[in-house]
Amino acid sequence: MGERAKHAELAGLQPPPVPPDARIGSFRSGELVNADASAVDRRLFVDEELYRLEQERIFAKCWLFVGHESQLEANGSFLTTTMAEDPVLVVRDKAGKLRGYLNSCTHRGTKICRADSGRSSTFKCPYHGWTFNSEGALMSVPRLGQVYGENFDRSKHSLREVAKIDSIHGLIFATWDPAAPTLREYLGEMTFYLDLMLARMEGGTELLGGLHKWTIGVNWKIPAENFAGDHYHVPVTHGAGVEMGYRSQLSNDGYCIHTGNGHSIGSERGGAQQGHAVQTEYKGFMDNMRAQLVAKYGEKAAAFVPVGVGTIFPNLSFMDTARFRTFRVWHPRGVDKIEIHSCLIVDRALPEDLKREVRKRYSLAFGPSGIFEQDDGDVWQSIQDSMRGRIGRQGWLNYEMGVGREGPTVDRYGPPFVGSTSDILMTEANQRAYYRQWAKLMTEGDR
Ligand code: FES
Ligand SMILES: [Fe+2]
Repeated sequence: MGERAKHAELAGLQPPPVPPDARIGSFRSGELVNADASAVDRRLFVDEELYRLEQERIFAKCWLFVGHESQLEANGSFLTTTMAEDPVLVVRDKAGKLRGYLNSCTHRGTKICRADSGRSSTFKCPYHGWTFNSEGALMSVPRLGQVYGENFDRSKHSLREVAKIDSIHGLIFATWDPAAPTLREYLGEMTFYLDLMLARMEGGTELLGGLHKWTIGVNWKIPAENFAGDHYHVPVTHGAGVEMGYRSQLSNDGYCIHTGNGHSIGSERGGAQQGHAVQTEYKGFMDNMRAQLVAKYGEKAAAFVPVGVGTIFPNLSFMDTARFRTFRVWHPRGVDKIEIHSCLIVDRALPEDLKREVRKRYSLAFGPSGIFEQDDGDVWQSIQDSMRGRIGRQGWLNYEMGVGREGPTVDRYGPPFVGSTSDILMTEANQRAYYRQWAKLMTEGDR
């Protein structure tokens, strides 16, 4: 296994070991995350300086999810969201091109758009009335000649635009970093699993029924690392859901795969994410989907669908089960608070009555009133509560489950599988890869 772990490292699937003496602001990196990230300091979740550095070194650099193309179908449509704490306006401009702007007037900073979504070719600031078009240009200024004179240069006051914006299978991402790799490079090997999850059927996917948005008191990394593949908590945290028969007992068979850049997925085989949850009314649809999957990706890859849970670094997570597919963003709102934006994504080809059924199943399990979401939120907030105090913020948390049991996924499953996998379902390999990526980005800022 030592050799296999080395192989994974060499294949570039693992972020580099955390160097002990690199700086992360006023910290030494080794004080925060040990070399293989099997121990993580509690201050990662409560320290204000680290939170501020995360805004610069992670959220201003990484590709962040900003919406689904089905929310912006018509030219001139828009939505508002945030990239970490920065409010953004995402539009499909007059020519049909996706664009993203800081939702903040260049006069005095007011949000120029307050609606969640809609269609408009102009955005008039509610403070003094400066008006911008969907290309971000400042089109009109009330009393321009009278109050600023004829030399006022409107072209210097365009909206601040994201450096790059792109989409994959309907998911739109943006980044503020002009030096960022392309979206496909950033996602790397993860695109293989996104293909399996989102490019299954003719017609692609749509976001159904808008977003659920709510706030809970937890650091943003806690839910992100949970969705990275924490199967260990399922029988305990979600014990009531199992007892009620909402899902089966966790099977011990499955995989945890990380694919580089801190992205990962995990799934049990034969449990709630598979087989038994396929309802009879879906059968025809599922058979059709299966046939399309096999034709596109082959038998072996098709058998990996639904792909399970996962996190795309830093703060987009998903869950793909036989019942529903949810994507959610853990937007940081301070070191100890997040706003969750959760949505349901369905295949467009799904008949309307089944769309309604899928929505019901999703709402029972996830979203602010879902039983599993409630279970998780309660535990996550208690983590944060326990680390608020002078003593609770001291010491290390343990991530050593499954150390040394990793190797290339292709060795276990054969081609076309990619990434690094473990030979057990319950492992914290994905969380270690996540925190190694965190440390990589956080130390780069101090070089
Ligand atoms: S702040 Fe927008 S017009 Fe003044
Ligand atoms: Fe959970």
